[in-house]
Amino acid sequence: MAFEWKDRYNLDIEEIDKQHKKLMEIGSKAYEIAIINDGYDRYDQIMTILDELQEYTKYHFHYEEELLKKHNYEHTHVQEEEHLSYVVKIAELSSREDIDDNQRKTILEIIDFLSQWISNHIMLSDRKYAEFLKAVI
Ligand SMILES: [Fe+2]
Ligand SMILES: [Fe+2]
Repeated sequence: MAFEWKDRYNLDIEEIDKQHKKLMEIGSKAYEIAIINDGYDRYDQIMTILDELQEYTKYHFHYEEELLKKHNYEHTHVQEEEHLSYVVKIAELSSREDIDDNQRKTILEIIDFLSQWISNHIMLSDRKYAEFLKAVI
């Protein structure tokens, strides 16, 4: 997956779609590095991507969770648990000692994780709350 925004990713809640697009932009930076594959030292870029993935979601997850609590969404805990699993995964990736020696492996793992995140979380769990919100707002 090339991390290009597609209409089917839209949940039709403007602010949420805007935030999801931002995540996709970070993913596309990782993808660019992976397809170039020129053996060039990408350590700093990889670390920046990991930092951005961590920083960005602090805001996005908080935003979603507050919005869902405000509207008493019954599956808010599912969102919180899945968000936590993302935070743990990115923290684990960022803290590895061998990133510099395994740059390609790391970038491929980031891409793989983000692809799964988009299909499993954004397209399923987030879509589910979006349907709920659109009915109550
Ligand atoms: Fe989301
Ligand atoms: Fe979410």
